[in-house]
Amino acid sequence: GKERTLGMIKPDGVSGNYTEEIKRIIVDSGFSIVNERLTQLDKETASAFYEEHSSRSFFPDLVSYMTSGPVLAMVLEKRDAVSDWRGLIGPTDAQKAKISHPHSIRALCGKDSQRNCVHGSDSISSAEREIKFFFEDVVSDDIASQH
Ligand code: CMP
Repeated sequence: GKERTLGMIKPDGVSGNYTEEIKRIIVDSGFSIVNERLTQLDKETASAFYEEHSSRSFFPDLVSYMTSGPVLAMVLEKRDAVSDWRGLIGPTDAQKAKISHPHSIRALCGKDSQRNCVHGSDSISSAEREIKFFFEDVVSDDIASQH
């Protein structure tokens, strides 16, 4: 049956004006965008989202990057959404993606292992947690509703 995952366009993707192109790729690849939210993460929410990486050396830089501008969180639905979205975005390191997965989204708009333009849940349980994070619990400052 159908499955849902959390897709996110990170600050470099939003500020680089890749949103429309990425959404076209998403829809052309058979996903439905069932919900979306443009929001500015603060240090607390970005740290909570990436809690599992909190002991890594790159964590402070990751939080700075993720709070540098708005992100677009999307609930993506299709059969095998979790693994298919991970396949579509390509490897974490965008430099490697450009060589090994030239048609991936990270090859299109990512820069390196940190500034990789998009995020995807890595498992069904992560997807449930991350969808709740953006659409039920933590993130409530919806930019679109602030105008
Ligand atoms: P993402 O798929 O959102 O999950 C964790 C994020 O941490 C990852 O994308 C990158 O933005 C960042 N990240 C992972 N590995 C590294 C690394 N080796 N150096 C810097 N940033 C990283």
